[in-house]
Amino acid sequence: MAEIRLVDLNHQYDVGGAYALKDVNLTWDDGGAYALLGPSGCGKTTMLNIISGLVRPSEGAVMFNDVDVARTSTADRDIAQVFQFPVIYESMTVRENLEFPLRNRGISKRDASARAVEIAELLQIDHMMKRRAQQLTADAKQLVSLARALVRREVSAILFDEPLTVIDPQKKWELRQALKRVHAELNHTLVYVTHDQTEALTFADEVVVMNAGGVMQKGTPVDLFEQPANTFVGNFIGSPGMNFFSAKVENGVASLAGTKLLEVPSGTQANGDPSDVIGVRPEFVRWHSTPADQRVPVTVTKLNDVGTAVMATFTVDGATGMARLPISDRPETGPGWVSFSRLQLFRNGDSLDNCKPIGLAEGASRA
Ligand SMILES: Nc1ncnc2c1ncn2[C@@H]1O[C@H](COP(=O)(O)OP(=O)(O)OP(=O)(O)O)[C@@H](O)[C@H]1O
Ligand SMILES: [Mg+2]
Repeated sequence: MAEIRLVDLNHQYDVGGAYALKDVNLTWDDGGAYALLGPSGCGKTTMLNIISGLVRPSEGAVMFNDVDVARTSTADRDIAQVFQFPVIYESMTVRENLEFPLRNRGISKRDASARAVEIAELLQIDHMMKRRAQQLTADAKQLVSLARALVRREVSAILFDEPLTVIDPQKKWELRQALKRVHAELNHTLVYVTHDQTEALTFADEVVVMNAGGVMQKGTPVDLFEQPANTFVGNFIGSPGMNFFSAKVENGVASLAGTKLLEVPSGTQANGDPSDVIGVRPEFVRWHSTPADQRVPVTVTKLNDVGTAVMATFTVDGATGMARLPISDRPETGPGWVSFSRLQLFRNGDSLDNCKPIGLAEGASRA
């Protein structure tokens, strides 16, 4: 098991070509369960393959417990990797597939067999132990691939690259629970790639969000939701994502539609900076039928019932926003007011720390 640290990592597949990874500095703590989340083509697979050694980075170090392995072979790294599609020995039985990685490393027949049964039971494939892999369905083969990765107790890390794509949704949920149990037992460093944010947020202790070859933020699901580091994470996480409204910044105060909302710390003030944006999640918007201090005038244009809540679409200052409101607060369409229980100011896309909300009665932002 290992702490894995990526230091000043850059990667281009072709000399002079685009960067698949750019200026990556990231630590995967020993024993952590991580999800790696981001849009297609952002560099997730490239990052995993650099960790496992399938790809050699153009620049930078891959530190396993303070030893740079960037230029060593995959075999020296002791990483188990599971891909989107099964990688197994077709001519072997399921049992042989599971025992092989252990026997290969000198583990006795008896211990290998016991461990194979244990993992097979966990993934509910124990009834197929005697069958040849080539006779299995695609999803059963993928379960065998997962089992092969989990069967070894002594690995530096296990990397999963969208392993459940071929598995049906109900089974997916069961498998994620099984992976969690194995993680609790063995405390491997575990990195799980997905572009499904529900999968990421329910699986991992911490989530790494990537975009365009760079790491946007590493944090707990709550961090990503409540304190996105930039507008990309604000928008990417959440359903729908964060609302963004152009802010008017004057004399150290950011306002929206004439309502003063945030004190901008001195030293970071750029009066009238057109890139200043107020971000607020739909969950942190409240609706009011009467005006008061700290309430922003809006026009509610649309209401959508979504089970236990109502999604209200509103316009403010020519922009459109969304509010997720309790059914008991169902607004009327037409003029109204909103207040925000948590909000952030972004400049050039990045969150400005230490902005103080003005007159917020409850749920202060970035306290
Ligand atoms: N073997 C390769 N040769 C050249 N370019 C590549 C190669 N593999 C990936 N790329 C490019 O590198 C970038 C990152 O790709 P990568 O496969 O790491 O993304 P990803 O986040 O895993 O995407 P997906 O979610 O679609 O799997 C993309 O622009 C991709 O086109
Ligand atoms: Mg990929």
